[in-house]
Parts: sequence; structure tokens; C-alpha cells
Amino acid sequence: MSQRIQFSQTGDSSVLALVDVVARDPGPGEVRVRNQAIGLNFIDIYFRTGLYPAPSMPSGLGTEGAGYVEAVGEGVTYLKEGDRVAYAQGPLGAYAQQHTLPADKVIRLPDFIDFETAAASMLKGLTVQYLLRQTRALQGGETILFHAAAGGVGSIACQWARALGVKLIGTVSSAEKAALATQNGAWATINYSEESVVEGVRELTQGAMCDVVYDSVGKDTWITSLDCLKPRSLMVSFGNSSGPVDGVNLAILNQKGALFVTRPSLNGYADTRERLEMMCDDFFGMIGSGKIHIDIANRYALADVGKAQDALQSRKTTGSTILIP
Ligand SMILES: NC(=O)c1ccc[n+]([C@@H]2O[C@H](COP(=O)([O-])OP(=O)(O)OC[C@H]3O[C@@H](n4cnc5c(N)ncnc54)[C@H](OP(=O)(O)O)[C@@H]3O)[C@@H](O)[C@H]2O)c1
Repeated sequence: MSQRIQFSQTGDSSVLALVDVVARDPGPGEVRVRNQAIGLNFIDIYFRTGLYPAPSMPSGLGTEGAGYVEAVGEGVTYLKEGDRVAYAQGPLGAYAQQHTLPADKVIRLPDFIDFETAAASMLKGLTVQYLLRQTRALQGGETILFHAAAGGVGSIACQWARALGVKLIGTVSSAEKAALATQNGAWATINYSEESVVEGVRELTQGAMCDVVYDSVGKDTWITSLDCLKPRSLMVSFGNSSGPVDGVNLAILNQKGALFVTRPSLNGYADTRERLEMMCDDFFGMIGSGKIHIDIANRYALADVGKAQDALQSRKTTGSTILIP
């Protein structure tokens, strides 16, 4: 027997239950991983609440973990039993002691990355990889606005921007979070619970505004974000922590300065094995070179996942949170 987190209806964190299951043997092209650490991400909350529908019910939850390969299905050539691995995509069900998933989503870990670091950073780090290196390949010298700069994704973005020589202005909701973002390399911070973001950006850039805005907050910040951009520059809307952006009249992009907008996802960028490996090499290289350090600020037992999600959802966390199975 093995344990996993399961939910049968959408709702608050009380719908999450720890249940005994028999872990599935891998089919062709699959592997089963014995998780040593599990990543907690805001997308898990979107599935739990029903903003993103789970494919079936009852459903597992979570897409990120790290551990040992313990069984290999037919036709899998690049992984073997005992390999140290991590994954950030694939079917829901990573909140578990064992998880069976397609082998092409699973990456062998370099020796210098431990399981907890991998589970705390793979999804978030690959996200920052495509945001800063692909959605717009930043060259250094640009000024960008990055919302929720002290969070899991934000903490990695601050460090990656510093390494690139990009001036990252981070929004945060408290002085403590501002200090953390600055420590991670943010060029400046704006406490958006107290000050106007648009005025702050105007002052910091002496009226020039930003080359790119990265907005994972969604509904609450959409218009503010557009107002922080230079004419003909890029708005990257990549999350919904305050609710989804909907009902957009495209004409607003013209009114705000002939802007470009994109709504990307990790699955849209790491959509082939080759692209996933390329993005992992880049991200793991940043950890290996010491340019990015992963702050595991919060650890919970698997059974306490509800408390962990509540803390993330209520903006109490900084950095990354992991679950220990
Ligand atoms: N599209 C993709 O490929 C992709 C991949 C990974 C993550 N994401 C998105 O990136 C964002 C960050 O993910 P994460 O897991 O690293 O979480 P996180 O940043 O650690 O936590 C979310 C943060 O968002 C801020 N926030 C602002 N308004 C909020 C609200 N109404 N409710 C809750 N939080 C609010 C809070 O920071 P302050 O207190 O400082 O405001 C909070 O700490 C999420 O929106 C997630 O969906 C997208």
C-alpha cells in the first residue's frame, strides 16, 4: 500500500484527503517514481478549486516531484531503476509517495541537485527559464516589472534577472517580502498594498516605463500592468493568483500604446523532450554555477497539504514550499 492525496469534489482545502492506494505499474513509455520530495505550486490550487478542471474524479493532485525511479515500463530507454529524477509536468498525482507518469516528462538529476531542491524548483525554475529566456530573450539592460517577486517563481526570477543584468522591479505586499526580493537581486521593489505601482514605476524609470511586465496575479493587476509598459512593449500574463483575466476588449492594447500580449504556460514551452531537456540544462546550469539558490522556506508532511495550500493561497509564504511524503 502507498499513500496519496485525493479529492472527489472541488472546494477549499478540506476536500483534500490522504488515502491508501495501490500504486499503478508503469505502462509502455511510463515510469514509476518513489517520491522523496514534492513541489507545491499555485496551479495545484487552481485544480482543487475547479478554476482548471481535473480530467476525472476522484483525482490526484500535484505535478512536481523528485525521487528514485522504481519501475520502468516497456520501451523506456533513457531511464532505469534507481535513477535520481525529477518532473514538473504530467498527470495530476504528484502529491503521493509513488507516482506513475510518462517517462518523457522525467529528467535525470545532476549530482549537485538534491531531491528537495529539485522538488522546490523544477516547475518554477523552468517557468522563469521560458519567461526570461524565450518569451522575450532578455539581453541585459532591460527594465522589467515582475509581480509577486518574493514568491516561489518570483524568488527565482529576481536571481535570474540579476545574473542577466536586467533591472527587475518587483511588486510585493509587505516590507519583509520587499527585503527578500532585494536580497535575491531585485533592482527595486514596490509594496503594492501601500503604493501606486504605476507611479512607482514612473519614478524609478524616470518616465520611461518597462520593456516587459510579467503578471501572475491576473485579475487585480491587469490594467496596472498595461499602464507600466513602454509603447509597443510586451505584457506577459502567466497566472491567476487573484483570479483570471477575462472579458478583455482587444482595443485596450491599442489605447495603452500598441502593446503586445501573451498568455504562456510551461506546457506550451516544454512541449517536446528536446525542449524540456534544453530548458532543464539551462536552469540546472544556473543552480550549478551558484547564480541561483533555491530558498525552501516551508516544509510540510504530505498529510498536512491542506495547511500548506492555505498558507500559499493566503499570501503567507515566501520562496518555495515542499511536501515530504
Ligand atoms: N503559466 C505558467 O507557466 C506558470 C507556471 C508556474 C507558476 N505560474 C503562476 O505564477 C504565480 C506564482 O506561483 P507560485 O507557485 O510561485 O506562487 P507564489 O508566488 O509563491 O504565491 C503567490 C503570490 O502571489 C501574490 N498574490 C497577489 N495577489 C494574490 C491573491 N489575491 N491571492 C494570492 N496570492 C496573491 C502573493 O504575493 P504578495 O503577497 O507579495 O502579493 C503570493 O505570495 C501563480 O499565479 C502561478 O499560477 C504560472
